Amino acid sequence: MPPLSTSAPGVRPTTFRFRCISCGEQNDRAGQNFRCAHCSDLLEITYPHWKESRLDPQQLKSIWRERRLSHSDVDLSGVWRFRDLLPVLEPREQVITLREGNTPLYELPHCANITGVPRLFAKHQGLNPTGSFKDAGMTVAATFARLAGFRWVACASTGNTSASMAAYAARGGLRSLVLVPDGKISWSKLSQALDYGAVTCQLRTDFDGCLRLLQELVLRAPVYQLNSINPFRLEGQKTLALELLEQLDWQVPDHIIVPGGNLGNSSAIGKALVEMYDLGLISRMPKLSVIQAEGANALVRTLRETKGKRLVSVQAETRATAIRIGNPASWKKAVHVLETTGGACEEVTEIEIAQAKAEIGAEGIGCEPASAVTLAGLKKLVKNGFVKPEESVVLVLTGNLLKDPDYTIDFHRGELIKNESASAGLNGLRRPPIILDATLDAVIRTLEQAEKTS
Ligand code: F0G
Repeated sequence: MPPLSTSAPGVRPTTFRFRCISCGEQNDRAGQNFRCAHCSDLLEITYPHWKESRLDPQQLKSIWRERRLSHSDVDLSGVWRFRDLLPVLEPREQVITLREGNTPLYELPHCANITGVPRLFAKHQGLNPTGSFKDAGMTVAATFARLAGFRWVACASTGNTSASMAAYAARGGLRSLVLVPDGKISWSKLSQALDYGAVTCQLRTDFDGCLRLLQELVLRAPVYQLNSINPFRLEGQKTLALELLEQLDWQVPDHIIVPGGNLGNSSAIGKALVEMYDLGLISRMPKLSVIQAEGANALVRTLRETKGKRLVSVQAETRATAIRIGNPASWKKAVHVLETTGGACEEVTEIEIAQAKAEIGAEGIGCEPASAVTLAGLKKLVKNGFVKPEESVVLVLTGNLLKDPDYTIDFHRGELIKNESASAGLNGLRRPPIILDATLDAVIRTLEQAEKTS
């Protein structure tokens, strides 16, 4: 299998290059592990021609607006609509797309009241085709996998990456291999991978063990890896920030808050903000903050204990299984983003996550547990004065409520958090199903009771 090249068939040469994030070495090619040949660190994609071609920010904004009226596949995709800031593809029919992106930006009046931050929004990436933000990156990376001539794609996953990869592989006529931790991903996500035709291996290890194995596998077998180590994934995920700013009429929010797991998404959004700033699309930078579960707090500890110099890995444990990651691959990129944008990094408890998830649910939009860390984190950032009440805040909701129904049902039945006294404060949020005799009387009594307590 040839190394991945910027001059693969269908890709105009010189439109982008791979650059090592540590030693800065640039190359037209990347090995199958997407690591620097000299120092083994991660690669990112750069666009040397941007400077000479003098992209005009006003013109870009109007092109992106105009494309919303078009019916071509690439314009209907909320990712490829922003293709001017992505690796270029010719001809465009080669794109593998499920019309990802185009996700709504919601106001959160109920959560605004709770947090005391009136200008509070949610960018709901859980409304992507496979129910998570991964689709924005997958359309780009799967497209480049096929262009490079691969037949197999593979990933290690806590569930959402595998669901997304399997779907895009199926659409693109590729085979897919999924490595997931046995018993530690939700049935919904597992069922997606199965239905989309992936060869799905449940390994007796955690996510970090799966990723380690995948890194070795790609050096031995002709499979293209689609984890967020793959820089094409991050290019696609950048478009979240472009679409968000467009939805805000290019008025820059003060804060963007994302959950942190393997730290690809925070890296992608941060890269987009820097590029937008450099290109003159925005005149100032929002602060990008990353929130982790207390039991999977590698980045929090890395910053606290080594000031971001050396990764502190942890044995991850959290019911927010999407972010049950102890050895995040993109930690250096995330540290850089926090430094560049001036963002914060916080951890939240299992009870805080459960409460925040129910509060977002009560807005009528809902999300999966990992996404709810953003609201729980915002409460902390308001409390410690990092976020001021008059500032505007966007929470990035990364996954759909339907991704983890067991969590939601356990929460409402009072079975999620074992420590009764610690979780007593959550009772007001619980709406357990009520089992009744099938009589009109019983239903009316229940309705009256509910009216009294509302
Ligand atoms: N939210 C959800 C719903 C996720 O699925 C993930 C990661 C994250 C947040 C964290 O994003 O890794 O870019 O920092 N899910 C992975 C997976 C790793 O395999 O689906 P990150």
